Amino acid sequence: MTGFPGVRPRRLRALPALRDMVAETSVEARRLILPVFVGEGFTEPRPIASMPGVVQHTLDSLKRTAAEAAGAGLAGVMVFGLPETKDATGSQALAEDGVLTTALREVRAEVGDDCLVMSDVCLDEFTDHGHCGVLTESGVVDNDATLELYGEMAVLHAEAGAHVVGPSGMMDGQVGVIRSALDRAGHHDTVILAYAAKYASAFYGPFREAVNSSLQGDRRTYQQDNRNLRDALREIRLDVEEGADIIMVKPALAYLDVIAAARAICDVPIAAYNISGEYAMVEAAAANGWIDRDGAIDETLTSIRRAGADSILTYWALEYARRGATR
Ligand code: PBG
Repeated sequence: MTGFPGVRPRRLRALPALRDMVAETSVEARRLILPVFVGEGFTEPRPIASMPGVVQHTLDSLKRTAAEAAGAGLAGVMVFGLPETKDATGSQALAEDGVLTTALREVRAEVGDDCLVMSDVCLDEFTDHGHCGVLTESGVVDNDATLELYGEMAVLHAEAGAHVVGPSGMMDGQVGVIRSALDRAGHHDTVILAYAAKYASAFYGPFREAVNSSLQGDRRTYQQDNRNLRDALREIRLDVEEGADIIMVKPALAYLDVIAAARAICDVPIAAYNISGEYAMVEAAAANGWIDRDGAIDETLTSIRRAGADSILTYWALEYARRGATR
């Protein structure tokens, strides 16, 4: 049988049961991670205008959401902290009672090991200039001085109960420095989820509102140039050599080729971050009645899995885990 009419690909598409039987890709709750924002100095969750449905949590609402995430079978929550005061060195990032450290401790106490507690190891939410590290006198992000702070921050998070730390600052050597700092402190089992291939992106826009960022300038001296794929593979190889347990590609949708190429060269699990701007685009189009919202969400998450990601950070994680695919 070499072709039509004996061969008819449509035969396997005729019924939902046939389509389900041969589907190559699935998006299960256990693969999804919910990014969450927690602030201080307010008592009710605050909506984020550019991310309808996403809020800046209070400690209480965060704990409730983490418990819901555990109940819905999500892999975990990735916690971002929004300090009330920011300064040039992001000193609140290293405060024992800082907003992020406190949240990690309380969320871990709430969910135990039922859902993974993950932390963002980066200074941008804590610095008044909004960069991911400390600056030199000439205003450039100082790679090596920043590394020391990342190492301390990761240990603080592990001590507070984080199962997984996620360095997202794109400093050279960050994974190695964090691995040794964790090991020296006895945290051999703390997992490093490394943002290995992280591109400078216009799609981070809504996140800046979410974390009250006052970024001066841009991040092009440390995040990757979107014209490059080989540079991403180089970053991934380096992070794996330095001890990354899982590598991440970010953003996801404009970088599905990077996820697929990463899948082909590496044997550690791959995560992808379906970021704020990707969320906002679908929500805005759906709010205007221009797109089928649930279908677009299914298609988005499926495409990221099909490209080769094992797990996905997405603001739709909880909703998706509850309703499942709608096809
Ligand atoms: C940096 C960080 C950013 C995001 C996650 N971690 C912002 C940036 O690098 O500019 C963006 C996530 C999103 O847009 O959803 N700590």
